[in-house]
Amino acid sequence: EDTTPVDYSLFQYKGFNLIANLHQVPYLDTLENFGIRDSDVFAVTYPKSGTIWMQHILGLMHYSNDLDGPVSKLTVQVVPWLEVQLPIRKNQDPATLTSPRLHVTHLPQHLMPKGLRKKKGKVIYVARNPKDVAVSFYHFHNYSLNLETPTSFHHFLEKFLHGQVFGSSWFDHIKEWYKHKEEFDFLYITYEEMVKDLRAAVVKISNFLGKQIDDRTIETIVDKCTFKNMRCNPSANYQMIPKAFLDHKKGVFMRKGKVGDWKNHFTVAQNERFDEVYQEKMKEVPLDFIWDI
Ligand code: A3P
Repeated sequence: EDTTPVDYSLFQYKGFNLIANLHQVPYLDTLENFGIRDSDVFAVTYPKSGTIWMQHILGLMHYSNDLDGPVSKLTVQVVPWLEVQLPIRKNQDPATLTSPRLHVTHLPQHLMPKGLRKKKGKVIYVARNPKDVAVSFYHFHNYSLNLETPTSFHHFLEKFLHGQVFGSSWFDHIKEWYKHKEEFDFLYITYEEMVKDLRAAVVKISNFLGKQIDDRTIETIVDKCTFKNMRCNPSANYQMIPKAFLDHKKGVFMRKGKVGDWKNHFTVAQNERFDEVYQEKMKEVPLDFIWDI
């Protein structure tokens, strides 16, 4: 299968589509030997699967003394991307960061730091049903200045199904991670279960991280992480991300936060085509998704 990106804004790094304006090969090359500590936490997602949501939860969980902290600290700075060397990180050697180091990443399992496979450090994989991912991703393409604006939803959906987008194939991403999960200290959680019962999800995450968090703090974290509250929190809603990256006139990052919005976008024919590809590609993995609530 040809996975050469057809989108001018992308490039392929060791088989994985990344963004030309955002990701740099010399820095990516260093990640294989990124020294892992026991206390490291990596939240892994395919794009548009709830990355910022998990970022915000992790940030609040670890820096609970800062629950009402200054809004000047963006969630994306508290829990930075592993694969992006943002200006704020340029002069910062990860080796000098205080523990626990929290990261998010879209990287496939084969590009993760080698040390993680010794089950040092923890991985939380957040998955979302791929129909809603495709819709959210489509809107994000219209909004992001680093990605090619799709000519139509139909055209975008074909590219998504072929893995010709940032993050490559959704199917490969989840399948590869799932197949290799035993090699990591690994938690699998879905966007849909977080929508259904955020409190239960927060408790599940804190248990996995071995954290003792009292009920009141759990309630506070849950309250701060609802869609409504994150949407109006400038440190979490991407409003502060410079105009060079996002065209704030063309969209919002915290768009709908729903399960099943794909029904407002897919035609019957597109849905049948999607189901066919899904059944074929997912037949060897025992994963189920909630497609509508
Ligand atoms: P929609 O475009 O469907 O609204 P990512 O951070 O991986 O890019 O994912 C973004 C998606 O997660 C967007 O989906 C966004 O609205 C949703 N999201 C972010 N925070 C959320 C929250 N607290 N509750 C529900 N959905 C949330």
